[in-house]
Amino acid sequence: MAEFRFEIKARDAAGRIGKLTVNGKTIETPAIMPVVNPKQLTVTPKELMEMGFGMIITNSYIIYKTPELRERALSEGIHKLLDYDGIIEVDSGSFQLMRYGGVEVTNSEIVKFQHDIGVDIGTFLDIPTPPDVPREKAEEDLRITLERAKEAEEIKEIAMNAAVQGSTYPDLRTYAAKKLSEMDFEIHPIGAVVPLMESYRYRDLVDVVIASKQGLRPDRPVHLFGAGHPMVFALAVAMGVDLFDSASYALYAKDDRYMTPEGTKRLEELDYFPCSCPVCSRYTPQELREMPKEERTRLLALHNLWVIREELNRVKQAIKEGTLWELVDERARGHPKMFAAYKRLLEYREYLEKNEPVTKASAFFKVSEESLRWPTAVRAKERAKRIGKKFPEKITHPIFGEISRYLSLSYPFAQSEGEEDFGITKPGKDEARKYIMAIAEYQFGEGAGEAFKDAFVELSRKTGMPRQVKAKGKHLATFRAEDGLLTLGVEGAKRLHEVLPFPRMRVVVNEDAEPFARKGKNVFAKFVVDADPNIRPYDEVLIVNENDELLATGQTLLNGEELKVFQGGLAVKVRRGVEK
Ligand code: GUN
Ligand code: ZN
Repeated sequence: MAEFRFEIKARDAAGRIGKLTVNGKTIETPAIMPVVNPKQLTVTPKELMEMGFGMIITNSYIIYKTPELRERALSEGIHKLLDYDGIIEVDSGSFQLMRYGGVEVTNSEIVKFQHDIGVDIGTFLDIPTPPDVPREKAEEDLRITLERAKEAEEIKEIAMNAAVQGSTYPDLRTYAAKKLSEMDFEIHPIGAVVPLMESYRYRDLVDVVIASKQGLRPDRPVHLFGAGHPMVFALAVAMGVDLFDSASYALYAKDDRYMTPEGTKRLEELDYFPCSCPVCSRYTPQELREMPKEERTRLLALHNLWVIREELNRVKQAIKEGTLWELVDERARGHPKMFAAYKRLLEYREYLEKNEPVTKASAFFKVSEESLRWPTAVRAKERAKRIGKKFPEKITHPIFGEISRYLSLSYPFAQSEGEEDFGITKPGKDEARKYIMAIAEYQFGEGAGEAFKDAFVELSRKTGMPRQVKAKGKHLATFRAEDGLLTLGVEGAKRLHEVLPFPRMRVVVNEDAEPFARKGKNVFAKFVVDADPNIRPYDEVLIVNENDELLATGQTLLNGEELKVFQGGLAVKVRRGVEK
């Protein structure tokens, strides 16, 4: 069996930076596979690699149907045929099926052929059911797609895509996603979305993607089939899409269309290039217009690829900084239909909340009215309401309104920027403990304040802010200056473990991981056997064994649901181990 691994490295919104390894080749996600037409190389695969595209997609059906390509692919292998040593994914002819109504190959023939020509990732012959068909048609197509999935699962020896179908019926999408997740596949594309994107139906696209994501295993990468315009990247990644493919860089170029992250321009309408890629730095729009068609097409294709690459980097940087929602908000303003999609996405509160990190490297920026509906804001307000009942002395925050004053140092209340300033009041010596208790309740939930009821809080001489939290000479926790939340010490973890009943804040690991966790070594996902479903990304958690004995404390990368499912990569960055 081929090698295939996917690990998560960082995250923001429901998006993630991942590491994808296939047959010894590794790329970082979110990533885009430029589509290579084996019959017409506008830009060669080798050039694509030099531009930083470590994965491409081509069509095994076209190769299969073209005698000369087929012979060469079978004798030399597809990597040699395309002169490309990165990851090669292939489609199956499904798209041709959708566009032209039929293909001259069976499911098992194309799956075997993909294996025989040595692709890294194959695709079986799923049926892309277009939007808005009668329900019976969508159900019948899906039944066949699932049958073909079964057949492909039995014969496949390579990593393989299993595309989620179901037209515009959310329940069918979720059902398809669940069924395919139970099977042995590596990547899940979301299929038949091209017609939605072509007609700017981004709002429906959101419904289709979220319905699919809700049924999919969270540990498998998700590919938005046929999405390659940079204007959708931020929104799609925020929903949890990891992979894209683009034929449009070349198709648009043929049509004299020029991509920008905000939308598409026609070459004829440009007086200036809003881009400084090698093409746009060298030529003016006028010079490009005067070039022979073939040369112009190639240069426009190159520009389109550079903006695609740039926007993906921008999205990845935003994930690292914790500013992906700000970027989605900005991009939503490029087109009214994109704005409608953004507002639609914000309605999926539960899905968004469970994937949203509890802390970020950047302050919360209220850039629009929609910012108040971002999951960070929704969660903060909900949690603050609960805290307000126990710690009723209120202050008025210019963005979040009335909150308990004891939350005024913590994320996102203190780490936020709106139109008006928010004056942080530093805790007096006698009330610092109350701050820590309220923060514990806010961060770890109902009852967690108990663990700190006799705490002594050291205030920084320089800033007046809380620093170390101690009791009876022992270190309980550190108040983090960056986000006003707590990092647990061994004693604090022990106390929290005592006051919070199982399974709260727990990550349960098997006995193989126990000695490592106790020594303060990181916990990997494959050792996790159970977890509190209410854990959120970047929470400080309690690592316990199957007898609920405390082993360590640390910061989790995964939420409670993911902790139970993931088998690859890091689960918890351990801060301190608890020796026996
Ligand atoms: N390319 C664009 N959409 C699809 C789809 O739904 N399935 C497959 N296999 N390829 C596609
Ligand atoms: Zn350019």
